[in-house]
Amino acid sequence: MADPPAEPAGPREASGMALKVGVVGIAGIGNRHCQCHKEDPLADLVGVCDIVRDRADAAARRYETKAYYSVAEMLDAHPDLDVVDVTTGGRENGSWHYEPVMEALDRGRNVLVEKPLSSDVREARRMVARADEKGVYFACNLNHYFTPPAERAKKMVEDGEAGELRYCLMRMGFSGGEPTYGGAPKDDRTKGFPYFHAKAFLTHPLSVMRYLCGDVTHVQAFFGRPGFRQRAGDVMLSQTSIHMRFANDAVGYLLSTRGDTPVGLGGWWSIEVGGTKGTFCIENCIEKVTFWPAQKVGLQQPPEASVFDSGIKDFDQTFPRRIHAFLEDVSNRVPRAALRGSGRDALAALEYTWAAMESHEMGGSLVRPHALPPVH
Ligand SMILES: NC(=O)c1ccc[n+]([C@@H]2O[C@H](COP(=O)([O-])OP(=O)(O)OC[C@H]3O[C@@H](n4cnc5c(N)ncnc54)[C@H](O)[C@@H]3O)[C@@H](O)[C@H]2O)c1
Repeated sequence: MADPPAEPAGPREASGMALKVGVVGIAGIGNRHCQCHKEDPLADLVGVCDIVRDRADAAARRYETKAYYSVAEMLDAHPDLDVVDVTTGGRENGSWHYEPVMEALDRGRNVLVEKPLSSDVREARRMVARADEKGVYFACNLNHYFTPPAERAKKMVEDGEAGELRYCLMRMGFSGGEPTYGGAPKDDRTKGFPYFHAKAFLTHPLSVMRYLCGDVTHVQAFFGRPGFRQRAGDVMLSQTSIHMRFANDAVGYLLSTRGDTPVGLGGWWSIEVGGTKGTFCIENCIEKVTFWPAQKVGLQQPPEASVFDSGIKDFDQTFPRRIHAFLEDVSNRVPRAALRGSGRDALAALEYTWAAMESHEMGGSLVRPHALPPVH
């Protein structure tokens, strides 16, 4: 996928028909989505909606569009709305997604929603099922793999360059440590939730791992938190250590931390995937991917590497790239099963998260994630 302005014109763009988009929930991330739609030739931002009127009004002025104070009001005003982009947050960053998403799906709108799909996996299952019943596009902002390095890595897997995949190691961490810790969370979205980090965040690394290695069949996990959090009465399990097995027989490991230790090699997240013909490693999410082909070299000697550097260091670039891909898929009316970063893909990550939480609660027992709905 090229940067938005360089994309070839899709049918709508060619005919000057941008998709009519309304964004729901206009705080930090909602503003970022609005900006992306404003700058994307495939989108026409016709409305912004927030239950906090001042936020909706300010955004309407900023993006030269109309303000609405409820989803119903926005949908009534625009019966031809093509896309509802839901960027509400809530407890554990996902409890406010269900209502506006279901409202939009029930009215037959295509929906893009922020991750996680929900802070309750049962709601997430219902959203995916409802989108299926309605026959509309339902996608999630799985922006971490809408990057040049991830796309290149995916191609290595699909073209067989990496061979048979055998392992996948991912580490993801917010840099931090004891001296930088600000105390137990006090805000309603985080405070008192042991699984805040797991629910709010693991969708990203788990969906990157699945994007590259496929479905996960078995999960074992240990969660924990450092002494400085325990002494502060902070219940958040900020370290998750998850071992898994993929359907293709590869094994995987994900370590994630939330400000407990400084970030080391590979930047804030890196993933290494080892295949029988080559191993690749993505560093710093969007920055670069290195490939080491299988070669006859000495035991201690690494094979000659090829490095693809995207030239991009700014993580925020993942937003316009991912949003453009969704607009492109809807504009091109791709088969729903081919929708990139679909609700089903995001549900898979949430099912693995729930399996990991269950395993942690059972002292690290083996758990098989809940089955995904069939692809139609
Ligand atoms: N993909 C990423 O890289 C990334 C990064 C950070 C956050 N996020 C996600 O973005 C989402 C939003 O995060 P945030 O920090 O901007 O959230 P926030 O809680 O600060 O803001 C949510 C906004 O939604 C509004 N809202 C809630 N329910 C509503 C409803 N039914 N109708 C209209 N408006 C409603 C609230 O008034 C608020 O203005 C979260 O789910 C978070 O997980 C994603």
